[in-house]
Amino acid sequence: MLLKNDQLDQWDRENFFHPSTHLAQHARGESANRIVTGGSGVYIEDRDGNRLLDAFAGLYCVNVGYGRTEIADAIAEQAKELAYYHAYVGHGTEASITLSKMILDRAPDCMSKVYFGLGGSDANETNVKLIWYYNNILGRPEKKKIISRWRGYHGSGLMTGSLTGLELFHKKFDLPFAQILHTEAPYYYRRPKAEMSEEQFTAHCVAELEALIEREGADTIAAFIGEPVLGTGGIVPPPAGYWQEIQKVLKKHDILLVADEVVTGFGRLGSMFGSLHYDIEPDLITIAKGLTSAYAPLSGSIVGKKMWEVLEKGTDENGPIGHGWTYSAHPIGAAAGIANLKLVDSLDLVKNSAETGNYFVQAMKDAVGDHAHVGDVRGEGMLCAVEFAKDRQARSFFDASEKIGPQMAAALLENGVIGRAMPQGDILGFAPPLCLTREEADKIVDATAKAVKKVFG
Ligand SMILES: Cc1ncc(COP(=O)(O)O)c(C=O)c1O
Repeated sequence: MLLKNDQLDQWDRENFFHPSTHLAQHARGESANRIVTGGSGVYIEDRDGNRLLDAFAGLYCVNVGYGRTEIADAIAEQAKELAYYHAYVGHGTEASITLSKMILDRAPDCMSKVYFGLGGSDANETNVKLIWYYNNILGRPEKKKIISRWRGYHGSGLMTGSLTGLELFHKKFDLPFAQILHTEAPYYYRRPKAEMSEEQFTAHCVAELEALIEREGADTIAAFIGEPVLGTGGIVPPPAGYWQEIQKVLKKHDILLVADEVVTGFGRLGSMFGSLHYDIEPDLITIAKGLTSAYAPLSGSIVGKKMWEVLEKGTDENGPIGHGWTYSAHPIGAAAGIANLKLVDSLDLVKNSAETGNYFVQAMKDAVGDHAHVGDVRGEGMLCAVEFAKDRQARSFFDASEKIGPQMAAALLENGVIGRAMPQGDILGFAPPLCLTREEADKIVDATAKAVKKVFG
């Protein structure tokens, strides 16, 4: 559909502060903008009449695909019946109560309750508060530091931007905060020594973690946070045995584990949760994106049984928990979440994510994996990344000024496919809707092969 308002471009540049955007170039009209008008299945449309295959599902969130009337209808019905009521002091709605049960029915057995927020960043903010509260109730006020990983992504607030291990989110913002520590990224392709096996690299990551704990003192460290598969840091599945070995260390030192499943929750890895996929037993799970497929903003912190007991004890001793937002458990988000999870089930999307995802990653390896400047093609479920290298054998990389990643994403777009130039390194990332078909996967692979040819010749 073509929008008739010819001033939109000007209004956009004059009035709209876009996230993660070069502000000056945008305001001066030097960088492209796109005004999106519609979407159906894995495609979006813009007002210039382009129909693009969205191989990143928005920001890895439109898991059921665009244009699902079941979710739109559920939102409309909820808005008409009861658009809002708060969740403070024991209030709820049928939608929020039902959705919390649906989430717990799908989550690992060790989980107990869901606190609802609006986005992944605020959910991780909640997690940090709960972790601190927990250790205060247990009489361990010194045990407060949180270990994250370089290249982890956990949000862009003050605390969550600190947890994030990407330079762009720290630089000039006076972050990270001192309570946040970072350890080695579980990034096998960028291992320190080429001859290391995956198991040896896992042992190296574990040794780095243990050394950090030793340096800081275990009695000062409250928690470890990680995405089951690194997302924004490069779409990197963990090396063999990583989560098993990391969990042993955390248990030994009584350190809580937060599984940030904002990307991996609800099917993206081909399992309902990344924690189930990798046998992780977390104390907290962060959820957002795939919970509603982004049809409405909703996130959650799923609290494990061990922490929940302490939270109850805390309120017995101190009164109601001092945490809550006006929009916690918003009924419209909850209605979207219910309709979305029903679709995930009825369309068998977790299975499709595993099967078509596997086909997609293999097809990508076959198509570009041998190219002289393709260092690595990796993936898990419906996540895939192609990493470019100057010299694939030596694992040497292009200078950032050459902008290989952004050039690739632009070339892909010329072939009608949206991928994402990941923010650190020359990595083309894919996270298509979980309803992707093999034919659509072929289109993405074909467009990628053409982009590689165009950029490298
Ligand atoms: C793993 C992870 N955690 C947290 C977030 C932050 O979520 P939001 O952007 O909704 O605040 C993201 C966003 O991409 C994410 O990928």
